[in-house]
Amino acid sequence: MEKIVIHGQKPLRGEVTISGSKNAAVAIVPAALLANDIVILENVPDIADITNLVEIMREMQVKVDRLDAHTLRIDSRHMCNDCASSEAVRKMRASYYFLGVLLGRFKHARVAFPGGCDFGVRPIDLHVKGFEALGAEVSTKAIIEMKARELVGTNIFLDFASVGATINIMLAAVLAKGTTVIENAAKEPHVVDTANFLNSMGADVKGAGTDAIRIRGVQKLHGSEYAIIPDQIEAGTYMMASAITGGDVKIKNVIPRHMESVSAKLREIGVSVVEKDDCIHVIGSEHLKPTKVKTMPYPGFPTDMQPQILVLLSLISGTSMVNESVWDNRFRYVEQLRKLGANIDVEGHIAIVEGVDQLQGTEVQATDLRAGAAMVLAGLAAEGSTTITNVQYIDRGYEGMVEKLTSLGACIDRITDDGPMLYTPPQAG
Ligand code: UD1
Repeated sequence: MEKIVIHGQKPLRGEVTISGSKNAAVAIVPAALLANDIVILENVPDIADITNLVEIMREMQVKVDRLDAHTLRIDSRHMCNDCASSEAVRKMRASYYFLGVLLGRFKHARVAFPGGCDFGVRPIDLHVKGFEALGAEVSTKAIIEMKARELVGTNIFLDFASVGATINIMLAAVLAKGTTVIENAAKEPHVVDTANFLNSMGADVKGAGTDAIRIRGVQKLHGSEYAIIPDQIEAGTYMMASAITGGDVKIKNVIPRHMESVSAKLREIGVSVVEKDDCIHVIGSEHLKPTKVKTMPYPGFPTDMQPQILVLLSLISGTSMVNESVWDNRFRYVEQLRKLGANIDVEGHIAIVEGVDQLQGTEVQATDLRAGAAMVLAGLAAEGSTTITNVQYIDRGYEGMVEKLTSLGACIDRITDDGPMLYTPPQAG
């Protein structure tokens, strides 16, 4: 069982380069299968979720070669439309994108239930309604099976601006007959990136990034070469890391426009954030102010940054409030922060934070991907040593987090029960 151990209270300094966007890549890698051709994808993050997607695609007889750590060559000319018995599908939620892709290309899809998918808690009803509106018959018994004689474009209004449903409907609609309009569409950067990628393969998608996306179906798509955008949430996490350690970090390979809600909130509480072309310079301060944060779909403050900002607020004197409006149950990790000495009460969708002077290192768990990042931030700020278990969650979405933080001067290591794995941290003290 691997763990991350951090000796905290070292201000981070230097430059860090952000990897390709996880949430764009987990859509674009499956979307490459729509082309019945060869696709080259660059700036693909080297994370566990991508390794898992590659495994699923190989099970479907797709030929996937890694040209280098961040470039995939995907040849789907001889693939099949069935990943119903794949264990790898069950490991991650984003494998739901195979539904839209297989339905679009083959008009028949057999897919295992995506990982962690509980229809009560993380439903895909909006995806299913969209596929049905396009003409598919959908059965969700032991597996998800969808069939359509043909897909025909139509107007689809989403009850909620769901990222996954917006992208999945786009994936199915690019090869449908006629025009599909998705209204109340999600506007996240990864929705736009997926649309741009589809257009690079010959699709006709307009309006991505607004709440109405218009997809004119085409007969076929062709191969392309495409580079994925930088990861908004990884960038935001390093911004928080600089702020929480009173550091001075240049975060490179970012799109500052995607970071506006995070930058604005950090400036509001007193952190210096300076944007350059593809770089954000974040300098922490000892005098920070409490605030209120409400998570919202893009361009609002991202729910995937909620655990990270909550850790920062837990160290700012005064009362802060964080309102989670996207997910029903996203404060489970707060219990772990309390072990470190944070003073946080949760009432339904709202966390009320009374800032404390200091967190004290102890053993905590990563309860999910972004909660895991929050534990790392807490460990960077805490006095003494913090040990984080369940680090496989962090590996799902952060490329080389231990290495990147080490290069910024953090005293952090990844260990097994047998001893250090990758790096010998600088001496504490
Ligand atoms: C994506 C992100 C995830 C992020 C979330 C919100 C990926 C791979 N994951 O997840 O990191 O936290 O967006 O920004 O991109 N909902 C329904 N029915 C549906 C679909 C969603 O009720 O069919 C609800 C969900 O329960 C949730 C809300 O809509 O309350 C947002 O979900 P959605 O935007 O679909 O999130 P994901 O695409 O799963």
